[in-house]
Amino acid sequence: MGSSRFSVLGFVSLLLCSATSFSIPKDQEKDRITELPGQPANVNFAQYSGYVAVDEKAGRALFYWLVEAPVTRLPQLKPLVLWLNGGPGCSSVAYGFAEELGPFRIHPDGKTLFSNPFAWNSEANVLFLESPAGVGFSYSNTTSDLYTAGDQRTAEDSYTFLVNWFEKFPQYKHRDFYIAGESYAGHYVPQLSQIVHQRNKGIENPVINFKGFLVGNAVTDDYHDYVGTFEYWWTHGLISDETYRTLNVTCDFQSSMHPSDACNQALNVASTEQGNIDPYSIFTPPCNDTSSLRHNLRGHYPWMLRAYDPCTENHSRVYFNLPEVQKAIHANVTGIPYPWDTCGNITGNYWADSPLSMLPIYRELIAAGLKIWVYSGDTDSVVPVTATRYSIDALELPTITSWYPWYDNGMVGGWSQVYKGLTFVTVTGAGHEVPLHRPRQALILFKNFLDSNPMPSSSK
Ligand SMILES: *[C@@H]1O[C@H](CO)[C@@H](O)[C@H](O)[C@H]1NC(C)=O
Ligand SMILES: *[C@@H]1O[C@H](CO)[C@@H](O)[C@H](O)[C@H]1NC(C)=O
Ligand SMILES: *[C@@H]1O[C@H](CO)[C@@H](O)[C@H](O)[C@H]1NC(C)=O
Ligand SMILES: *[C@@H]1O[C@H](CO)[C@@H](O)[C@H](O)[C@H]1NC(C)=O
Ligand SMILES: *[C@@H]1O[C@H](CO)[C@@H](O)[C@H](O)[C@H]1NC(C)=O
Ligand SMILES: *[C@@H]1O[C@H](CO)[C@@H](O)[C@H](O)[C@H]1NC(C)=O
Repeated sequence: MGSSRFSVLGFVSLLLCSATSFSIPKDQEKDRITELPGQPANVNFAQYSGYVAVDEKAGRALFYWLVEAPVTRLPQLKPLVLWLNGGPGCSSVAYGFAEELGPFRIHPDGKTLFSNPFAWNSEANVLFLESPAGVGFSYSNTTSDLYTAGDQRTAEDSYTFLVNWFEKFPQYKHRDFYIAGESYAGHYVPQLSQIVHQRNKGIENPVINFKGFLVGNAVTDDYHDYVGTFEYWWTHGLISDETYRTLNVTCDFQSSMHPSDACNQALNVASTEQGNIDPYSIFTPPCNDTSSLRHNLRGHYPWMLRAYDPCTENHSRVYFNLPEVQKAIHANVTGIPYPWDTCGNITGNYWADSPLSMLPIYRELIAAGLKIWVYSGDTDSVVPVTATRYSIDALELPTITSWYPWYDNGMVGGWSQVYKGLTFVTVTGAGHEVPLHRPRQALILFKNFLDSNPMPSSSK
């Protein structure tokens, strides 16, 4: 009862706020997407996209895409969630937006779109950011920037982006704000969270009203990630006993971004032993041509009836390079000298700083009482569930609710354990990109995270 009264009051005051305090800045209106080429009928939510400069002198600008909640779901009452993909060098437009949690998926023609019924903007306003400069449509006018990116500059630029973005979108100031992401964003998300948290200290009613973070199949702690990854490869029969032993010895205590030659060599042997599987989703076929794909899905993967399209990345490579699409989303307005790609060539070779562990940041942010959820698709072999479990175990947090199966419609969706300060959730049958492989379960997870509810334990 009490909570419903609160939300009615909140509703009224928010409406008053949006009616009185804000006039919509012109540069926000310029970023509004009126229509996407090939979009389905009846799009009932607003979208904005464009650039926010983060370094005027070097000429660095980051490309964002805001997908608001449908008007019928009262976007003005929903939180704002920033989504980051990893790599480093991979695009949140290519992955997060176009094949995971965004509102549309791209047909194999590379020209037309269809709706994703499990898009996360049903529960929040979602802000996708291509970072760092050099990824996707985000650019730098200083070429050397593209070869000297690292964790620290990525986090600082993302923070500057946020500060400037909130000026462009004042209606989001003081709104509940979360940061989410996957894979190497297992670095970006806690690092950016730490900066926001530290710079909010001592400020009453901060503009960036940061509440917590959510990460999936996240690179977290190189030592524990390696131990758990090699174990996963071996226990899933992907590598030989001998290679398992060699990896254990040569990659022990190595940096995952800059492994030694010996460790690299062992990793190459492991990769050859694994063969042509999709390491991001070990039980589904890799991208080949679509006709054989359909056949394969029927023949060998009967449990993947309404399976995802493993070639979806290739469709986005076509779609986002179309001049009419770039025009509609206000992208590439400066004539970037190379094509848009899902992952750029800011590779590990150039990547500067990459701390071995995010656990110290976890400890700081857990102590600060922020909401922290970590999830894992359990058929990913790249940042597997065993890696994440070892990393979390290393935090030695007290358990509040022991390991239990969570349910979606009577079926086990995965497992969960609630620790003091951190909730861990697995999604069974999902690969590296959980919302791609298990969109319905991913949306349940997202909603429970936002609502601060544990995953449903009832099998009803
Ligand atoms: C990068 O250079 C282009 C062309 O000179 C210019 O239009 C653009 O504003 C510059 N970008 C930034 C972020 O300064
Ligand atoms: C690899 O290392 C893990 C963790 O130290 C250990 O439990 C496992 O027995 C090792 N396996 C091999 C084959 O060396
Ligand atoms: C891709 O499909 C073709 C037939 O369409 C097949 O010959 C080829 O072996 C497949 N490649 C892989 C890597 O699965
Ligand atoms: C998908 O894109 C990759 C990278 O550009 C390319 O190597 C591959 O042949 C493409 N696959 C199909 C089926 O088009
Ligand atoms: C930007 O546009 C130019 C044409 O003006 C095109 O050649 C280039 O591939 C595009 N780059 C990106 C990143 O979209
Ligand atoms: C990416 O690599 C190509 C060559 O493969 C090069 O021409 C291009 O300048 C590189 N782009 C960036 C952003 O480093």
